[in-house]
Amino acid sequence: MTACEYIPGLENVPAAQSAISYVDGQKGILEYRGIAVEELAQKSTFLETAYLLIWGHLPTAEELNAFESDIRYHRRIKYRIRDMMKCFPESGHPMDALQTSAAALGLFYSRRALNDPQYIRQAVVRLLAKIPTMVAAFQLMRKGNDPIQPNDELDYSTNFLYMLTERVPDTIAARVFDVCLLLHAEHTINASTFSAMVTASTMTDPYAVVASAVGTLAGPLHGGANEEVMTMLAEIGTIENVRPYIEDCIANKKRIMGFGHRVYKVKDPRATILQQLAERLFEQMGHDHFYDIALEVEKVVEEKLGHRGIYANVDFYSGLVYGKLRIPTDLFTPIFAIARVAGWLAHWREQLDANRIFRPTQIYSGNHNQPYILIQDRVRGEE
Ligand code: CMC
Repeated sequence: MTACEYIPGLENVPAAQSAISYVDGQKGILEYRGIAVEELAQKSTFLETAYLLIWGHLPTAEELNAFESDIRYHRRIKYRIRDMMKCFPESGHPMDALQTSAAALGLFYSRRALNDPQYIRQAVVRLLAKIPTMVAAFQLMRKGNDPIQPNDELDYSTNFLYMLTERVPDTIAARVFDVCLLLHAEHTINASTFSAMVTASTMTDPYAVVASAVGTLAGPLHGGANEEVMTMLAEIGTIENVRPYIEDCIANKKRIMGFGHRVYKVKDPRATILQQLAERLFEQMGHDHFYDIALEVEKVVEEKLGHRGIYANVDFYSGLVYGKLRIPTDLFTPIFAIARVAGWLAHWREQLDANRIFRPTQIYSGNHNQPYILIQDRVRGEE
């Protein structure tokens, strides 16, 4: 192999072969296992889609039933994990709490039996089942309340909202939330998935894989953007303020959160669906002032940056949906993580079938043959 060019951010460099999802950034297409995400958003549920992503095919009614029951059974977390979480500072970010708790699952369940299909299935079930419980538990505990137990009568998304708010949500709210999870479940090799894959390639346990991906998702250029979008909309405050705010961002080379994407050069198809969901929710639960500001932001950004392929991405409208469901802003990214666990696990499983440790190369830009200078002879700035 010949030496190759260094490409910052590995843009357009294939790092794996995968049959899990497909994105066409020019046409705005996203498919999970070949099925358009729009169709799944209309007809499927998050758990059915997670099954599809991880096991590669749509489940039969019997398979789905068994998968859902297993997940229902494993939703509870051990009291030692709960007690550990009680010691977390309440001022800590929920993503840091989630990363720590996800890693802690490895203390209890890791056997690294990566050749055992039973172990793999159990790990998938446990992670999908327990991550939402841990997110909700941290939310209640930082408010000074005891976490509440999962409710076996409730489906995945309804139960999560119930554990988070201590109220059973109405059917539309739960369905909208479930579709949000489905839309965030997978997106080819984004930063956190790549991080999951690098960790998985060392043949470590799946809890370490997920913990490492959660840490990567937390950054504001990735999953953290949905939180920043709400901060930005609040800062803008009024529709009249939108144009000067955006113009100022552009003039000062400040990123407008919720816009731009490495792959999409048109509006992210997930943003289109999320916008429709937000509208559905506002019809049901009352109009939202931030939505008017968001529409104006989108219009102005398209006018100013559309010619450069900068359009709304998945994070732009998701915050509005979560905000309407009265979910605290700093839980938006942990919710993204609850969904993306499906994609991370799908890539983990796929990689186990043909694993090779990730070990890229670098282009060295330092010096050679440097002398070792004794400490008493070192003078800063004169080397
Ligand atoms: N606002 C203003 N300018 C932008 C934006 C934006 N949101 N996004 C890209 N640009 C400009 C950027 O300043 C650069 O201009 P120039 O060539 O003059 O320096 C040019 O477009 C290319 O930007 P880039 O950073 O090289 O593009 P990238 O592919 O490396 O970055 C991105 C992609 C998502 C990190 C970037 O668009 C961004 O920072 N967006 C805002 C944060 C955000 O919404 N992130 C969520 C991404 S989607 C879901 C997820 O991954 O979690």
